[in-house]
Amino acid sequence: MPNDNRYAELRENYQMSGLLEADALDDPFEQFHRWFDDVLAAGIVEGNAMSLATVSATGEPDVRIVLLKALDQRGFSFFTNYESRKGKHLAANATAAICFHWKELERQVRATGTVEKVSREESEIYFNQRPRISQIGAWASAQSSVIEGRETLESARRLHEQRFDGQSVPMPEFWGGYLLRPKEIEFWQGRPGRLHDRLHYHRQSDNTWRISRLSP
Ligand SMILES: Cc1cc2nc3c(=O)[nH]c(=O)nc-3n(C[C@H](O)[C@H](O)[C@H](O)COP(=O)(O)O)c2cc1C
Repeated sequence: MPNDNRYAELRENYQMSGLLEADALDDPFEQFHRWFDDVLAAGIVEGNAMSLATVSATGEPDVRIVLLKALDQRGFSFFTNYESRKGKHLAANATAAICFHWKELERQVRATGTVEKVSREESEIYFNQRPRISQIGAWASAQSSVIEGRETLESARRLHEQRFDGQSVPMPEFWGGYLLRPKEIEFWQGRPGRLHDRLHYHRQSDNTWRISRLSP
């Protein structure tokens, strides 16, 4: 193992922009859309990738990347296998945290909230838009289960290609979307000298949002 200082020596002094209360929109979803416009304008690849943290039935956390596929006034949606490890976590603990890092913009957004499955109709609308190869992939992968080897996947794919030959691929029962309804959303903008801007939106009982500034 190299005995060097590679990790400790990496540091950036963030100075691209700031996030002041006067500039922040009252609605965090609108604020998110505005920052996502910047993500697209900056040409960031997979700017919809987010870390998703969940907790198992026995209280063990885990985290992985998923892709944000929709954002509306209800919250953040992503799609996955309901029988995967994350699916089992969400069945046991219907709460999660998500985090986006757009390093090119020196920004982070994180949110916590409750999670529920989206309706089968809504999942199907998305599933039917996916490339056929991904639809077949959903059938071929018992996500998060241990498999013998690569060939297990390839043969499962062939099997399902034959099964659905000449017809459209239906959405599996075990696959679909989840919606994270946020209670809290925080927008972080890096600033010089580690004195970053953090604006924290907290949902109120009347569904309006209270904005607080957090110390960096
Ligand atoms: C960029 C990127 C995007 C991903 N998008 C998804 C996704 O939208 N849905 C999904 O189920 N897995 C996605 N994955 C794979 C997950 O990170 C993870 O490996 C998989 O969902 C199994 O996680 P689990 O065992 O915790 O359930 C993505 C991985 C990467 C690196």
